[in-house]
Amino acid sequence: MLVSSKDYLEDARKNHYAFPHFNYWDSNSIRAEIKAAEELKLPVILAWAEKHSPEIGMEDALVLGKYFGSKAKVPVILHLDHGVTPELVKKGVDEGFTSVMIDASDKDFDTNVAITQEIVEYAHARGVVVEAEIGHVGTNSTEDDSKYTEVDAAKEFAQRTQVDSLAISIGTSHGVYKTGTPKLNFDRLAELRNALSIPLVLHGGSSSGNENLRKAAELGITKVNIYTDLAMASLHATQKKTFTTEPEMAAAQRKAIEDLSKHYYDVFETNKYVYQV
Ligand code: 13P
Ligand code: ZN
Repeated sequence: MLVSSKDYLEDARKNHYAFPHFNYWDSNSIRAEIKAAEELKLPVILAWAEKHSPEIGMEDALVLGKYFGSKAKVPVILHLDHGVTPELVKKGVDEGFTSVMIDASDKDFDTNVAITQEIVEYAHARGVVVEAEIGHVGTNSTEDDSKYTEVDAAKEFAQRTQVDSLAISIGTSHGVYKTGTPKLNFDRLAELRNALSIPLVLHGGSSSGNENLRKAAELGITKVNIYTDLAMASLHATQKKTFTTEPEMAAAQRKAIEDLSKHYYDVFETNKYVYQV
């Protein structure tokens, strides 16, 4: 069943836990992530990111997301991650994502506000929720260009855009860390949670440290985005060569993704979520 993230993230904010957001890149990954959620009987956020277009385009990702998502035995939020092209994000709204991220966090403040406002207006008119980013979570593979989120800027941004959730930057970054587990700015997170009434999102969750992530969930992060760790788990399962046929290899990859997905549910204490029927 495909659903909106709104009630889930608000419940997480109130009860100090987080939902995992898992990126998927093929049918193997999405099946494994859904299986983990079904076994734990918890909702799941499945995301396709615009930057994955060279490997899998939006149309194909939507076919997979809608097919596997609607037959899942748990609620599935189908999310468009890091939408940087407004036209593509609007198309995503029209074609079935229940949640979208518009990411203009590399632009100046007023441009980020204007682009986000345009998407919020479009998506809300069609019943779709919007995540945006203020400050900037960078990437470790190049020069890390992360920029911490300022409290006053976040407040003004939320008020002017009426966005549903906000990705903030407090020390994580995308991809593999070159310098070990990052140090997160929990004071800034606590200030942001107090200053804002909307749910906060943490990008770059992979390898950020279980203790860090659990504490972040307790202090106000309601969704943690995970991609690299899942892709690496699948790769490592492939390299172990514990199989002799291609279907067995795919099964080993799914098992690795499923086990890691379950691990993150545990770290974020997502089982604090109680189904409200
Ligand atoms: P990682 O690849 O570092 O887990 O980041 C995922 C992410 O933020 C997707 O939006
Ligand atoms: Zn991200």
